[in-house]
Amino acid sequence: MANNYYTGERAEIKIDGKTYELPIVVGSEGEKAIDIRTLRDQTAYLAFDNGYANVGSCVSKITYIDGERGILSYRGYGIADLAENCTFVEVAYLLTHGSLPTREELSEFSGMLNRFAMIHEDMIRFFDGYPPNSPPMAILSSMVNSLCSFYPEMTANPREDIDEMSARLISKVRTIAAFSYKNSIGHPVVYPRHDLSYCANFLNMMFDSPVKPYEINHKVVSALNKLLILHGDHEQNCSTSTVRMVGSARVNLYASVSAGISALWGPLHGGANQAVMNMLEEIHAGGGDFRRYVEKAKDPKDSFRLSGFGHRVYKTHDPRSWIIKQTCDEVLADLKSPDPLLSIAKELEEAVLKDDYFVERNLYPNVDFYSGIIYRAIGIPTSMFTVMFALGRLPGWIAHWKEMWDESDGRISRPRQIYIGPLSRPFVPIDQR
Ligand code: ACO
Repeated sequence: MANNYYTGERAEIKIDGKTYELPIVVGSEGEKAIDIRTLRDQTAYLAFDNGYANVGSCVSKITYIDGERGILSYRGYGIADLAENCTFVEVAYLLTHGSLPTREELSEFSGMLNRFAMIHEDMIRFFDGYPPNSPPMAILSSMVNSLCSFYPEMTANPREDIDEMSARLISKVRTIAAFSYKNSIGHPVVYPRHDLSYCANFLNMMFDSPVKPYEINHKVVSALNKLLILHGDHEQNCSTSTVRMVGSARVNLYASVSAGISALWGPLHGGANQAVMNMLEEIHAGGGDFRRYVEKAKDPKDSFRLSGFGHRVYKTHDPRSWIIKQTCDEVLADLKSPDPLLSIAKELEEAVLKDDYFVERNLYPNVDFYSGIIYRAIGIPTSMFTVMFALGRLPGWIAHWKEMWDESDGRISRPRQIYIGPLSRPFVPIDQR
């Protein structure tokens, strides 16, 4: 294999008195790995790592995270720079195309987002088929999967049509999300407008109404841009790995992203922002006694966890949480809408950061801890929080799907297992069991 991340160095592994050699791989930021792809062939042993915390499933040029130092960059650009200086559309372009767009490229990409913003009118009727209070993530996942029925030409040659397919998806997911909200509250849907930017358009589709036009607030638009940028990608998290894994079976982008949306739904992943708000609301309703929740989270006999704290990769502050916290303060000040949940969140954070249990386990606030408070201030209902996360994460999923598809030595994802079930048993006919 002639890839430049192979250094020629080798690791030695000794099993049953015999030494085997495995090549060492070094990433561009110096991260080292042992390539164990020949391990089973050489030794007949598997590597075992449930949860994959020690396994690199691919090489990637998209996102770099240093969990010890709290660093996150997309395609080499620091997350704080991108959040401060870019729109979400620019960052979506960066993630999916590999470089920041020139003015012409941005204008062409934005034009595509406008062109594809509507969804087929027949799809609008789907919303009526869902029972009231259906989980928005279930609707989003199935609507995205349905896109391959409406745009089958895009799925025949997925790699060739990827640019158009990604723009279509990035644009339509926003429309589907807003329409599902309107439908859930029994209001007429609001169509996308070509004169509005991506985020302003989304807010308008969410909150404009025939009886009360929505007034676009540029601070709110800017906050939404930041939030979506911060969620844009996060290397091999559960939903992104799902997109890559499903896509490795050579299934189309819509189906792969639909699977990613389902993974994101979980409360240990994207569903955490909703869980944070539910927890803060409960604390507020109970008179603000957050200490009881801290104690509950520390109790080894209790499975309760403080939502919004801890991360598989970050063992220090999540670099996104600083930006979100600051944005949260700015939005609440601008909207003049103080939120008692923000004070509870700040007190809770302060208590956790001083508590030995959390300090010893390196548990810090993650991206979800303050995002919900911003969404709430903007008027987005808690049930839609994870959908917002999906809107932001979509360019990352697309970038990974594309990268996975192009891998020259790509294979279908197919982990193995260590079987610990019963040994061979004689079959027992049903009457004798
Ligand atoms: N509250 C209390 N204790 C916690 C928390 C928490 N939020 N998170 C981890 N711990 C404890 C565990 O109980 C464990 O303690 P132990 O060593 O005494 O058994 C230790 O910290 C290590 O936890 P793991 O479960 O091994 O950590 P893992 O990397 O598997 O999980 C996760 C990471 C899922 C994010 C976890 O921290 C968690 O459940 N957090 C709350 C949910 C959340 O906020 N998720 C959003 C993550 S960010 C994202 O997906 C966008």
